[in-house]
Amino acid sequence: MKSVKSTPARSTSSLALFGGILISGLATFGAYKLGQHQTLLNVPADVFPQGSTTKLGDISPPTYCTDEELSTAIGEVKKMIGGHKVFNTPVEIESHGTSEFTTHAPKPHQRPKYVVYPELTEDVVSIMKIMYEYNVPVVPFSGGTSLEGHFFSTRSQSVVVDTTKMKKVIAIHEDDLDAVVEAGVNWQDLNQLLEPHNLIFGPDCGPSALIGGMVSTNASGINAARYGSMVSNVVSLTVVLADGTVIKTKQRPRKSSAGYNLAGLIVGSEGTLGIVTEATVKLHVKPVKETVCVGQFATVSDATNAVAQIYRKGLNPNAIELLDKDMMHCINYSGYFTREWLEVPTIFFKIGGINDIVVKEQVKEIEKITSKNNCHDFLYAKNDEEKEELFSARKNAFFAILDYGRNEIDPNVRLWVTDMAVPLSKLPPVLAKLEKMVRSSGLQSILLGHVGDSNIHFDIFYTEETKNKCEKIINEMMLLGLANEGTSSGEHGIGNGKRRYLELELGTETVDLMRRVKFALDPKRILNPDKIFKIDPQDDGEY
Ligand SMILES: Cc1cc2nc3c(=O)[nH]c(=O)nc-3n(C[C@H](O)[C@H](O)[C@H](O)COP(=O)(O)OP(=O)(O)OC[C@H]3O[C@@H](n4cnc5c(N)ncnc54)[C@H](O)[C@@H]3O)c2cc1C
Ligand SMILES: *[C@@H]1O[C@H](CO)[C@@H](O)[C@H](O)[C@H]1NC(C)=O
Ligand SMILES: *[C@@H]1O[C@H](CO)[C@@H](O)[C@H](O)[C@H]1NC(C)=O
Repeated sequence: MKSVKSTPARSTSSLALFGGILISGLATFGAYKLGQHQTLLNVPADVFPQGSTTKLGDISPPTYCTDEELSTAIGEVKKMIGGHKVFNTPVEIESHGTSEFTTHAPKPHQRPKYVVYPELTEDVVSIMKIMYEYNVPVVPFSGGTSLEGHFFSTRSQSVVVDTTKMKKVIAIHEDDLDAVVEAGVNWQDLNQLLEPHNLIFGPDCGPSALIGGMVSTNASGINAARYGSMVSNVVSLTVVLADGTVIKTKQRPRKSSAGYNLAGLIVGSEGTLGIVTEATVKLHVKPVKETVCVGQFATVSDATNAVAQIYRKGLNPNAIELLDKDMMHCINYSGYFTREWLEVPTIFFKIGGINDIVVKEQVKEIEKITSKNNCHDFLYAKNDEEKEELFSARKNAFFAILDYGRNEIDPNVRLWVTDMAVPLSKLPPVLAKLEKMVRSSGLQSILLGHVGDSNIHFDIFYTEETKNKCEKIINEMMLLGLANEGTSSGEHGIGNGKRRYLELELGTETVDLMRRVKFALDPKRILNPDKIFKIDPQDDGEY
């Protein structure tokens, strides 16, 4: 089939294929019968060209609702779920339109028109049926802490579906080590609820992030070295698809080989494939004993070599966090902490076990390994209070960075947060090059790394005047990571900020397959348009 670039929507030929794929029985009817489906589905002609993938160049632009159709759609939504769940006040629009953390702010017209707050999966079903019928772009929203423009309304008729009101913890199965929660549950609230059971939910990220958003970005964080990222902590998901169909990906056992791994498909999909309303997540037993130890090294390579050897020894710390000398300077500078740290590359370890003996043995081994790798100073917490104090230096790093930047660089300084991962053995040369790059530019940086997963945030301070220079270095940084078998995102995701790098990382064919998968689930391209990869050949935006 030829592409029909200039013909918007509704040509017959693609529907033959659409039918062929999704309604397999109809495939042989081909174009004869599909005339009637055409109007029903209103699916653009060319999203399913022959073959296995959908190339950007072969499709026509999506067509979304007019302002009038949007008003009608919203009227129907109000009737179905109640007008009190639908807003278009400036405060709601603004708080769902941009983010203080973003380095590429949306344009003024890129704001949603409405924000809708479903309270039940059924509400989401009603909303999506109507949005699908009227071709309304829909942007799912949780805690709003994502960093790459994930929830920006790039299409001007967008409706945000905010799942924060769905915050019931439906069940905690202590003996099965899982919990069933709605999408709006905050991970810290969940942990508080689990505390008396001596259980925790593994992944952690931005303090106000919620399960729905965490699923959708495959979040991980400090504890991921031990508990894995979201993808390994989700047992099953309830998801409302673009047309309002509800699916549940699995039953509740932790193990299953039954069919496709649809939860794995939804995890990390950034709201482009469906709206998550409920999740069954794994829980972990809190370490009965846990301590914190800190190694201060001569160089970053010494630090990362020590990490590699710790793993090779069969040790498995609960967290391994690297802070470089610039980061340690910020911490020292902030004066938040009683201790004065050496301003050298430093690793914070969390070590857990079933009793003190087990923990102590591990600390001993780790100390041995670090001392063989030019560790100047090795500290460990002797009690819970010291443990809290030691780790608070890592936990409060973000505030220390801002403090330093605002006082010493510029009151309006900002931090360009990056997020790459390379194989552990490549980390020392990559970091050495990055440091040289930044130093020669005259900009300042800090390094924070979940180095147990070889995931680093090499963050650069910038102001309005230095933004261009900073952007250039960020670009070089991404290319350097990719050239070292790395990934453009270790944990934050692609959003609309990193689409270009995704394509460089995986190749056009892989991205074309992602596009095909999206179109299979969302043929009208209404779910979180323009995120992860382009869905519109006329989209020349690099954000
Ligand atoms: C200070 C700070 C520290 C951070 N530290 C970490 C860290 O250590 N590790 C880490 O991984 N990340 C970190 N992050 C990034 C961020 O917290 C995570 O990406 C988090 O998973 C986003 O969740 P959220 O609830 O805020 O989602 P949002 O920002 O609201 O949304 C994220 C994406 O998910 C989609 N979405 C939201 N809700 C749903 C739903 N119900 N169904 C389908 N799609 C949905 C949105 O459309 C969007 O694409 C940090 C952020 C900040 C600000
Ligand atoms: C989620 O993160 C894990 C660990 O980083 C990674 O192995 C996996 O491929 C990711 N999954 C998705 C769907 O992004
Ligand atoms: C820590 O910071 C203080 C205040 O900026 C400074 O005087 C001191 O020299 C620093 N300590 C080290 C070890 O660098």
